[in-house]
Amino acid sequence: MSDLLQLEDLTQAQGDMHRPTLVERESIDYKAIAKNVGRIGEGKKYHIKTYGCQMNEHDTEIMAGMLEEMGYTATNDHHEADFILFNTCAVRENAEDKVFGEIGRLKPLKNRNPQLILGLCGCMAQEKVVQELVAKTYPWVDVVFGTHNLHQLPELIDKARNSQETIIEVWDKAGAVIENLPKLRKEGIRAWVNIQYGCNKFCTYCIVPYTRGRERSRLLEDVVAEVKELAGLGFKEITLLGQNVNDYGIDLKAYDFADLLAAVNEIEEIERIRFTTSNPWNFTDKLIQTIANCEKVAEHIHLPVQSGNNTILRRMNRGYTREFYLDLVGRIRAAIPDVSLTTDIIVGFPGETEEQFLDTLQLVEEVRFDGAYTFIYSPRAGTPATRFKELVSETEQKDRLQRLIDVQNRISREINDEMKNQIVEVLVEGESKTNPDVLQGRTRTNKIVLFSGTRDLAGQIVQVRITEPQTWLLKGELVPQRAGLAV
Ligand code: 5AD
Ligand code: SF4
Repeated sequence: MSDLLQLEDLTQAQGDMHRPTLVERESIDYKAIAKNVGRIGEGKKYHIKTYGCQMNEHDTEIMAGMLEEMGYTATNDHHEADFILFNTCAVRENAEDKVFGEIGRLKPLKNRNPQLILGLCGCMAQEKVVQELVAKTYPWVDVVFGTHNLHQLPELIDKARNSQETIIEVWDKAGAVIENLPKLRKEGIRAWVNIQYGCNKFCTYCIVPYTRGRERSRLLEDVVAEVKELAGLGFKEITLLGQNVNDYGIDLKAYDFADLLAAVNEIEEIERIRFTTSNPWNFTDKLIQTIANCEKVAEHIHLPVQSGNNTILRRMNRGYTREFYLDLVGRIRAAIPDVSLTTDIIVGFPGETEEQFLDTLQLVEEVRFDGAYTFIYSPRAGTPATRFKELVSETEQKDRLQRLIDVQNRISREINDEMKNQIVEVLVEGESKTNPDVLQGRTRTNKIVLFSGTRDLAGQIVQVRITEPQTWLLKGELVPQRAGLAV
């Protein structure tokens, strides 16, 4: 730890000169908004349907926290809900189509129960075309709000219940980072913590910079305070969230992501620290060394590559080459030997030839990722890539996706097979969601492990011998717990 900054040193090192001031970040008083509205949800139920990434999942926890403060209680059955909210994703078209399908199916329910409030928020709500479509085609939606003004939820519900018209209130720019919003975290063992919002990268296919705005970082002391609070509540694993976590702090000019990891690593009671998502651009040697040195930072990096071909990478505006990416992977593996690497890949980007796709396949073979999220390119209105005209046919796109999945599945399986008979350290999450007779946990490398054991192990770190590796999970058996068995 000696070459890493301790939290105390860091706070001193910042000094007042560097400390971001409240002038730069005007504050929004959520508590006042909530107080004005009061407990108008008393005796009522809410149902939130969430699409997309972990940022959205966490936004849902925040909105659930607000709703419960208003007196609402949660229900899994939307038929008995008084407020139904769609927290949406705009990254690909099919997710958007699904949301409109579901909103369409809710029309009869809304006709039968005019008191029901229907809401749409999240990334889709930021799109002008979506706002117009809702107003024109789905007028039974009561309220639409965006990613930058979700703190207004209480007052927007209040307005919506007294209005015949759809209330559309979407800020097109982000305001201040708002602290102290309530959050309803379910599990009690693993928690997400936002560290940064927005993205400045403008990859040509991606809508996120338009729906989530420019990069804004939370202050290090606010993140540390939240993690300490979670530790006090018994949470064991923290996932630091941002669109580009390794850009954390660039806007604050006082500290960087490595400093934040080192600071969170000092918090007692937290067993594991994860982070997502990283960008190959700006993944510094200091950061690699910090991950290697901080014993609580888990050995898993999600490092989206998107393509293995330089021409496509350039047209995607990714800011790195295939060679740079491979070199980065080499440096990461040299410093963190057992690291697990996962990635995101898009196939069928406009103009992608068979040879260029083969470069991606070959990169996947060379890196041997533990897993990959694979996508067919989906044109998003307003993004620069929609101007590229040489589209890849749908048949070709599907064929490439399948070939990529086949290669990746084989590699994931081979990597997992090598774990047979190994004893691994597992943080127990509780019963498996698919089979309540077994427990589910994760390795430090983020692999799901299923094994038999008693429920009181939830929240503990145990040793498990892998007996039956599969492509996406590992089955194992509990090893009698003795000191010194961990690998
Ligand atoms: N089409 C397909 N995939 C996309 N992604 C982002 N935008 C698009 C798009 N327009 C993928 C990228 C990103 C992941 C979250 O979603 O791979 O890393
Ligand atoms: Fe989208 Fe690129 Fe930003 Fe990721 S880095 S959120 S892919 S623009």
